[in-house]
Amino acid sequence: MSAPRTVLDAVPYWDTYYGNTFRFGQATEHILDLLSQVPPVPTWTDLGAGSESLLWATALDTRDLTAVDTDPDRLATLAVFARTSRPRGVHQVALALCGRGPEHFTDRCRSLTATLVADCLSPGRLPTWALRADLLTQFGLLGLCRDPLHFTDTFVRLHAHLPENGWAVGANWVAADSTGRVHLTHQTYRHAARRAGLHLLHLDRIPSTDPQFPLVWTYLARRMPR
Ligand SMILES: C[S@@+](CC[C@H](N)C(=O)[O-])C[C@H]1O[C@@H](n2cnc3c(N)ncnc32)[C@H](O)[C@@H]1O
Repeated sequence: MSAPRTVLDAVPYWDTYYGNTFRFGQATEHILDLLSQVPPVPTWTDLGAGSESLLWATALDTRDLTAVDTDPDRLATLAVFARTSRPRGVHQVALALCGRGPEHFTDRCRSLTATLVADCLSPGRLPTWALRADLLTQFGLLGLCRDPLHFTDTFVRLHAHLPENGWAVGANWVAADSTGRVHLTHQTYRHAARRAGLHLLHLDRIPSTDPQFPLVWTYLARRMPR
């Protein structure tokens, strides 16, 4: 059985959620705040990146960003946007929330060094180098898993190469109609983090004003030295 699809196709998704309006109350500000807790890291891989990595990048200090997605169109939009380096309204608000100026956005755009078309939710499709980053993120990818077993297996596999002291941050939106999607609980996340050998530093379930996605899970974890 294949995993559920993303809510909208590339262009409407990009314009609806990452256009000129910052949608306060839909957990974006919480995710930016969480990402601000990550110290500067040389390498970052964003899994299921879509066209959106540069919004999350406003809160981060990274040198090399690899964006991975199954959809080449979303990655192409991201690459063009990075080259253009002109923040949309949503990025401008995010920069202000993170206390950053326009030069920070330009630097983050330059940090996009690779885009990779790959299936992150099936085993054996991702090169190890992409997973050996100092920071691994996923926003909206793991929530597309079918069930808790698929979620845990995928979480463990995606974090298997995270180095000592490496960071893992993510968010998963809970759809009002979550047919075919994993039902996420505190226990599911704790179990997956434990199996992956990660120390869960933050786990939260935040209400959202988006009627299509009324809840958002957020987490921050770290591979502690053995
Ligand atoms: C809900 S969107 C999230 C996009 C973006 N990360 C964000 O912050 O808004 C889910 C993304 O996962 C991608 N995706 C879906 N299935 C995937 C898979 N098996 N492997 C990699 N990416 C996948 C979709 O193309 C889409 O870009």
